[in-house]
Amino acid sequence: MTNTVRFILNGRVEALHEVDPTMTVLTYLRTVASRRGTKEGCAEGDCGACTVVLGELEDGRVRYRAVNSCILFVPTLHGKQLITVEDLRAPDGSLHPVQQSMVECNGSQCGFCTPGFVMSLFALYHSDAHRPSRHQIDDCLAGNLCRCTGYRPIVAAARRMHDLDDGGMFALELPTPDAAALLEAIRPIDTIVLRIGERAYFAPTSLADLSELYLQHPDAYLLAGGTDVGLWVTKGHRDLNTIIYTGNVSELKGASVTDSHLEIGAAATYTDALPTIAPHYPPLAELIRRLGSAQIRNSGTIGGNIANGSPIGDSMPALIALGSTLVLRRGTATRELPLDEFYLDYRKTALAPGELVERIRIPIHGARRRFATYKISRRFDQDISSVCGAYCLDLDGTRVREIRICYGGMAATPRRASRCEQTLVGGDWTRAAVERAMAVLEEDYRPIDDMRASSRYRELVARNLLLRFYLESVGDVADTQVLQYQG
Ligand SMILES: Cc1cc2nc3c(=O)[nH]c(=O)nc-3n(C[C@H](O)[C@H](O)[C@H](O)COP(=O)(O)OP(=O)(O)OC[C@H]3O[C@@H](n4cnc5c(N)ncnc54)[C@H](O)[C@@H]3O)c2cc1C
Ligand code: FES
Ligand code: FES
Repeated sequence: MTNTVRFILNGRVEALHEVDPTMTVLTYLRTVASRRGTKEGCAEGDCGACTVVLGELEDGRVRYRAVNSCILFVPTLHGKQLITVEDLRAPDGSLHPVQQSMVECNGSQCGFCTPGFVMSLFALYHSDAHRPSRHQIDDCLAGNLCRCTGYRPIVAAARRMHDLDDGGMFALELPTPDAAALLEAIRPIDTIVLRIGERAYFAPTSLADLSELYLQHPDAYLLAGGTDVGLWVTKGHRDLNTIIYTGNVSELKGASVTDSHLEIGAAATYTDALPTIAPHYPPLAELIRRLGSAQIRNSGTIGGNIANGSPIGDSMPALIALGSTLVLRRGTATRELPLDEFYLDYRKTALAPGELVERIRIPIHGARRRFATYKISRRFDQDISSVCGAYCLDLDGTRVREIRICYGGMAATPRRASRCEQTLVGGDWTRAAVERAMAVLEEDYRPIDDMRASSRYRELVARNLLLRFYLESVGDVADTQVLQYQG
C-alpha cells in the first residue's frame, strides 16, 4: 500500500502525497506546476484546448496518447508520463516538428486552441501512422475545436510534420532516454490509498483487491476513464467522497478473443478494445470511431459506458443486438447477465451494492448473421446520438430465423424493439414485411422531446434506420457511408 502518486513530468519522477483525489490534471498543471501552456476551454472534454499526452509502457516501448486533462483526475497519472506543450521544445530551443509545421503552414491565429492541437498532433506523430491518411488526421483532430484559423492549414501541418525530424527526442524507437526506465520504476504495483479529510481514493492493482475494496465501500464511486465521472465534478460540482479507480487493474484492461466470444475487460479503453472488435464487427468499430474524440476514446471505456447507463450511450444498442452478456463480480462471486436484462429503469441497473462489471462478452456470430449499427447525431464527430439503432439478423433462406433490434435515444434505457422483432420473426425478409415492422415501432417506444431531437424526429429516424438496414442487407445501398473498417 502507498499514499504516494508517482508520475513523470519534465524527465523527473513527481511524487505527490496529499493530492485532492478529484483535482484535475489541468488544474494541477496551471496552478501547481505553473505550466500554463495547457488551456481550459470547456472543462468537459469537448474542445481539446486542454489536451495533454500520456506516455505508458507497452511491450517495453513508450506509447503516447492524447487525453483531455480537464476531466482527468491527478491520482490516475500514477505510473504514467505526463507530457505537455512545454516539453516539446528541444533543449537547444528548436521546435518539435509538429510545432514547426504549424508555424510553416500558418496553423494558428489567436493561439488559444494551438497547444491542444499540437498535443493531439504530437500523439499522432508518435503513433504507428507514419504517413497518416486524411481519415487518420480527421479522427485525430475531431476533438480539437478552433474558432478562428480554420482547419485547412492545421490539416496541412499534420501532413507536413512527418517531413521534419524530431532529432530523436521523442522517437518511439528511442524513447526519451530515461522515460522507459523511469516508467518501469514507477509501474503501479501497490494499491494507492489517499485520505484527505473526509475524502478517500483507492487505486488497487488486482481484481481481487478491487472487488474486496468495493465490498467494504459499496457507496464508493467506481472510476474508470472518468469521461463521465470527471464531468460530475467539473460541471456538476459534486463531492465524490470515496473513489475506487479501476484503471490500474490489469485483469480488467485487456481485450481478447476466444473461439466463441470477444472478451472486453471493463477497464479497457475504446482505443485498446478497438483492434479486437474491428475484425469481427466493422460496423461497431465504425461506431466507436465516432464515439467522442480520440482523447475521449483514449480514456473512456465500454464498461463505463454500460455502467453509466445513459439512454443515449452509443455502445449498448450494438452490444444488445449482438446478444452480449456482462460478467458481474461481487467479492469472489461472479454471475453472467444478458446486457438486455441489465437496465431496470432510467440510469438504474441490476448491479447489487458492491457489485461491479468485470467484463463484456460479445458472441462471435458466423458470417450468416448480418449486423449493422447506425448513429444519428447533429454533428458527425464528437457528438452524442439523437438516435442509435442496431440490428442483428439471422436468415434461413429468405425467412427470418431471428432478429434482434435495439435502439438508444428512444426510451429511458437502451431497449430492444420486441414487438417489431416479433412482427418479423418467421416471415420473409421483404420490403413489405419491413415496412409493416416499421409501423410497429410506435408500439415499442414513446420517445421524448429534448434539445437533441423531437419525439417525432426520433420516431421517423428509428423507422428509416430499419429500412436502411433492410436496403443494405439486400444490396440496394447508396454509397453514403465514410467507412474506415470494411467488412
Ligand atoms: C466530450 C465527450 C464526448 C462523449 N461522447 C460520447 C459519445 O459519442 N457516445 C457515448 O456513448 N458517450 C460519450 N461520452 C460519454 C463517455 O465518454 C462514455 O460514457 C464512456 O464510455 C464512459 O467511460 P469511462 O471509462 O470514462 O467511465 P467513467 O466516467 O469512469 O464511469 C462512468 C460510470 O461507470 C461506472 N463504472 C465504471 N467502471 C465500472 C465497473 N467496472 N463496474 C461498475 N461500474 C463502473 C462509474 O462509477 C460511473 O458511474 C462522451 C463524454 C465526453 C466528455
Ligand atoms: S477544456 Fe475543453 S476539452 Fe478540456
Ligand atoms: S487559433 Fe484561435 S481558436 Fe484556434
